[in-house]
Amino acid sequence: MKIKKKIPLIDQHDKNGFWGGKFGGNYIPETLKKPIEDLEILFGKLRRDRKFIIDRDKYFKNWVGSPTRFIKLENLTKNLGGAQIWAKVVSDANGGAHKIYNATVHCLIAKKAGKKFIVGDTGAGYAGKMLSMAAKKFGLRCKIFMGAKDIKRQKPNCDAMKKNGAEIVPVYSGSQTLVDAVSECMRYWVSNCDTTHMCVGSTVGPNIFVKICGWSTAQISKELKLQLKEKFKKIPKKIKLINCVGGGSSAYGFWSEFIDYKKSQIELIGVEAGGPKKSKLHAAPLSKGASLGILHGAASYVCQTKEGQINETESISAGLDYPGVSPMHCFLKDSKRARYTFASDEEALSAYQLVTKYEKLNPSLEPCHAFAEAIKIAPRLSKNSIIIVNSCGDAKKDRDILKNRLKKT
Ligand SMILES: Cc1ncc(COP(=O)(O)O)c(C=O)c1O
Repeated sequence: MKIKKKIPLIDQHDKNGFWGGKFGGNYIPETLKKPIEDLEILFGKLRRDRKFIIDRDKYFKNWVGSPTRFIKLENLTKNLGGAQIWAKVVSDANGGAHKIYNATVHCLIAKKAGKKFIVGDTGAGYAGKMLSMAAKKFGLRCKIFMGAKDIKRQKPNCDAMKKNGAEIVPVYSGSQTLVDAVSECMRYWVSNCDTTHMCVGSTVGPNIFVKICGWSTAQISKELKLQLKEKFKKIPKKIKLINCVGGGSSAYGFWSEFIDYKKSQIELIGVEAGGPKKSKLHAAPLSKGASLGILHGAASYVCQTKEGQINETESISAGLDYPGVSPMHCFLKDSKRARYTFASDEEALSAYQLVTKYEKLNPSLEPCHAFAEAIKIAPRLSKNSIIIVNSCGDAKKDRDILKNRLKKT
């Protein structure tokens, strides 16, 4: 499986929408064929439309707050005593996470499509919060599907959605988490696609949703590339870009500009949710050996039984608690361009404690999985190695979980 140079990964699929011949595609009901075709045509036009790009960039700059900071974590580096540790503070973005890039672009597309309603899924609540913010900004009515378990554990983001005027639809089926929220949202869209635009909250789902989301979050690596050149005069020799992976939108956005570089210069490391140490359950299809399956309209590695039933997942982090993953990450894994590993709940919590002890940074539990890997490998690396962690979410949403769990440790 080979990656082509100079072509964005979002475009490296075949005519049926598959990356590497087997990941992705469009496993959709007949009724969605036309709305999806229409969306493909519209997005194809808009991404080549100068006026649309100028508009998007204006919102990214003036509303999202792009570029977000790129900073050295001096104290953490000193304490670990190996590689330099840097952070791209994507949680600086309006609303506190990378999901704002995708939400903004989807609302701009919905307006161009003449839609008045927008629906979306959410796990950690950031995709929902950002979609509600963008919908309010662009005058769209917004409905968010969210698992009942996630509604309980991510209250601050739910409060924000309601404040922005969005309706939260609780999902009580299955594990009552992100996987069920996405299913329910897609089901709703099948019956309402004439009036309603759907925003999938990550680089998952039928091919066009993977592409729109990846195209939007790619802004993160565009910013980082410029910032690296500013700080180091050129792209340094030994970099490791570490990112947590749920559906994979923040990791793709963080890496997209660097995929063409040699692995020996820029290593890409994805960190999935290993779940509680004592549990067999996890949400790490790429690093704990899942098989190819079909979920939410696309083929990818999926945590599933031998019979193809979706396995229950478990993670302290609602945003990573998902049994599938982006087809683009499956392709990056099989082509060996990226390496995937996992961090347990306990490792993510320890990482949170260490980062917040030494730095004025408050990463949410999702990026704490990435910090856990950075903390693990930094001491073994030389001082001229550079680790950059995408700190893609703010921990305000995790305040209840952190209060409960850290009290017990
Ligand atoms: C802060 C944060 N990071 C990461 C994720 C995981 O999603 P993705 O892998 O699509 O970035 C989420 C999902 O909700 C999130 O809120």
